[in-house]
Amino acid sequence: MSGKLRDESKLYDSPPYILEVEDLWVKAGDNLILKGLDLRVGVGKLHVIFGPNGSGKSTLLGAIMGLPQFEVIKGDIKFRGRSILGLSTDERAKLGIGLAFQRPPLIKGVRLRALLATLNGGDAKIEELADNLDLKNHLDRELNDGFSGGEMKRSEILQLLVQRPELILLDEPESGVDLENITLLARFIGELLERGKHIVDRKRSGIIITHTGHILSYLNADIAHVMMEGKILCHGSPMDVLHQIKAKGYKECVECLLAEQSKEEAA
Ligand SMILES: Nc1ncnc2c1ncn2[C@@H]1O[C@H](COP(=O)(O)OP(=O)(O)OP(=O)(O)O)[C@@H](O)[C@H]1O
Ligand SMILES: [Mg+2]
Repeated sequence: MSGKLRDESKLYDSPPYILEVEDLWVKAGDNLILKGLDLRVGVGKLHVIFGPNGSGKSTLLGAIMGLPQFEVIKGDIKFRGRSILGLSTDERAKLGIGLAFQRPPLIKGVRLRALLATLNGGDAKIEELADNLDLKNHLDRELNDGFSGGEMKRSEILQLLVQRPELILLDEPESGVDLENITLLARFIGELLERGKHIVDRKRSGIIITHTGHILSYLNADIAHVMMEGKILCHGSPMDVLHQIKAKGYKECVECLLAEQSKEEAA
């Protein structure tokens, strides 16, 4: 792709959609963070979101998951065509949405094994999965209590492997993870997202936030978005967008926005 990153006609997703975020405005505390954000994710697709610190990426995933600190003041979030705004986080998880946190919370009094048992709606083999992620010795520890950064990230993926949600939200899954463990994580994320299957057979979809793009060398994501100041401004193929950001920073996106604004003002 050359020139501007914005080329929605070619690269924006197509129906059927698992997720539709429409003109979403979200507050946390007194701060207005998301300011009219639109995003659609097709069934079986993996989207990537890039954006500078504080642009609202984690807020978006938190709002989709229904975390209580985020207040939707305008717009809608639809999962498989139905609004989920009235549903609690638990209800959204049961419906098939799962989130791996950027900074997983410490939950005193809850052992990893007990949490996995509540997430296990099917017949997931917890011991075997924990062993695969080298977390067998962590099953009887309190959630994230004294876990290393990489262990917390592996535990987040283990929870998703047990839950097997249809929409998988991954907030910087590789940050702080050593290179060998990134390979391991990426293998299981790829399996979870059915990336090895033919596109028409993939049922699970995902949104992944990454700063370095490192994980994209292992996962063939479909579409990338650039988010700034609470809005998605540009779309493109993941590797193109990553290279543009590396080469020019987020400046290219600001130019995109300014060009759009001046078009609107002229109209
Ligand atoms: N609970 C909250 N109360 C008040 N402000 C909040 C809250 N949560 C997030 N914010 C603010 O919202 C803005 C966006 O935060 P968010 O975590 O979504 O950014 P991000 O794009 O994920 O950044 P990073 O790349 O650093 O993870 C920040 O300025 C942050 O301080
Ligand atoms: Mg974040």
